[in-house]
Parts: sequence; C-alpha cells; structure tokens
Amino acid sequence: MGILRLSHVDITVPDMELASAYYTDVMGLIEVERTDGSAYLKCWDEEDHHSLRLRYSPRVGMDGFTFKVEHADDLEDLEIAVERYGMPVRRVARREEVAQGEGVRFETPSGHVMTLVHEVDRVGGLLPKIDPPAYVDGLRGIAPPRMDHLLVTAEEVGDASRFYIDVLGFRLTEQLLDGNGHQIGTWMERSHSPHDLAVVSGPNGGLHHFAFWLDDWDHVRKAADVLAYNGVQIDVGPTRHGITRGNTIYFFDPLGTRNEVFTGGYRPDPDFPTITWTEDHIGKAIFYYEGDLNERFMKVHT
Ligand SMILES: [Fe+2]
Repeated sequence: MGILRLSHVDITVPDMELASAYYTDVMGLIEVERTDGSAYLKCWDEEDHHSLRLRYSPRVGMDGFTFKVEHADDLEDLEIAVERYGMPVRRVARREEVAQGEGVRFETPSGHVMTLVHEVDRVGGLLPKIDPPAYVDGLRGIAPPRMDHLLVTAEEVGDASRFYIDVLGFRLTEQLLDGNGHQIGTWMERSHSPHDLAVVSGPNGGLHHFAFWLDDWDHVRKAADVLAYNGVQIDVGPTRHGITRGNTIYFFDPLGTRNEVFTGGYRPDPDFPTITWTEDHIGKAIFYYEGDLNERFMKVHT
C-alpha cells in the first residue's frame, strides 16, 4: 500500500538535441516518445513508459518528480493526507500527462512539484518474460537497467523530510545532523533500498542529482570507462558513499545537470533502525574513500 517507487524525473534542457544524444548514446537510455517540446526516455529493464522526461526550456532545471503508488485507492488516501497537512492538491486528469492515468499533484514544503500516479502505460523492457536471457546484447553506452533515486535540496531539511515521512509514508534510513542536532540531510525509502528520495540543505526546489541503478561494481567501472571515452565531466568517483554504503560515480550531463550511477548498499526492511551521521563525519558520510566534499558539491539547479 502507498508509494511504490520513483516513476520519473522531469528536467528542463536548453538544447534538446544535445541532451537527447547524451541520454541515448552515452547514458544508453531508450527514447520512447518525442512530442513538440519533450522527449520521454526509459532504461532497458523498465516496464513503464518512461523514467526521465526532457522538456525544452532556455533554463536548466527540474519541472518535478513523480512517484508511483501501488493501488488506485492510494491516490485518494494520499491526496487526503496531503490536504490535511495543508498543501493544496490538484488532480491531474487522465492523459493530461503523456502515457499517464489520473494523478495528484502538489507542492512539497521544500518547494518541489511532486506528482503521484498509479497508472502508467506499460511498454515493457527489452527481455522476454518467458525463459529470458540474463542480459541484452548490443546495448549502447552505460545502459543502466533502471532509474534508482533522486536527491533534492531544501532550506529546512527537517520540515521537508517530516512531510515525506509523516504524510507520504517514507521511512528514514539515514540522517546527517549538524552540531545542534538539526537534520542537514535525510535519506528515505519506500522500495526497500537505502533511498528512493534524499534531501540535503540547499535552496528550496533544487535538484542535486538523480541516479541510475547499475547491477554491480564491474558495471560502475565500465560506466567510468564510457564517461571518460565520451569526454563527460566526472564530478566524483568511482567511489563509495558512507551513507547508503553504495558505490557511485557523480558526473554531469552536457547541460550541467548532475547524474549518478549507483549500486550496492544494504536492503532495509520496514523496521530498519535509522543510521545517524554527525556533521564532523560529513566527508566520509558522503564520499567514504575521499573523506571530503569537493567545492562543487552544492551546485544545484532550481
Ligand atoms: Fe544519489
């Protein structure tokens, strides 16, 4: 019941051809549909219509993010919960968004436009459902099997996170506290992964990065090769996060939006006890091997 997983991230790009070429040729996503102003892309093992929407805009940024709920009834239940919390909710009509059924949309306390949907067109992955092979031959670029999570920024991390936890039912796997015990970072899950959504201190409405899942460390190394071969600016890594214990590379798409590839980490059950990091360990918390943040870490788009 409730939120199932991240459905898609909607970003804006000032150069649609450049962005599309990067996300298909280098990232290895599949462009499923193109409308006048938007391109819809998915990873090869995803069943739903898309996990990334690129919309043309002169400005790099994020339109919002969408999570999928498990049952149709969950939409109404969560709509009531969000309204009770005091945030206005708008119903998104069936087919108002490409390939989507009815949804509910609201602004979160951190100024992000969030949508919940139940019905998304199922276009299928690249493997058959009967006696499938273990991999797809001839994929281009990094070719992650699926989208994994996103990290957004908020001026008040505590307030932003309480909304996701108390109203939307996210579970807090890890938190980073400043010297006064205030949350400056939170990692939350719905899908029994270390995080589906994370929030760190920064401007309201900001996107720090979104991340694609890779199956193992070998694939992370291959991803680094693909990035270097294609001249993509690597931000950090390959390395490991202290928080989530995942293996990672941070890098930038050609328009400046930070991407991540991510694998590993633990599998939290719903009774997973929250792990707390203190600010004096922030370096290792974020980048375990380096033990330090680079000066670009807070570069975000709103
Ligand atoms: Fe991440």
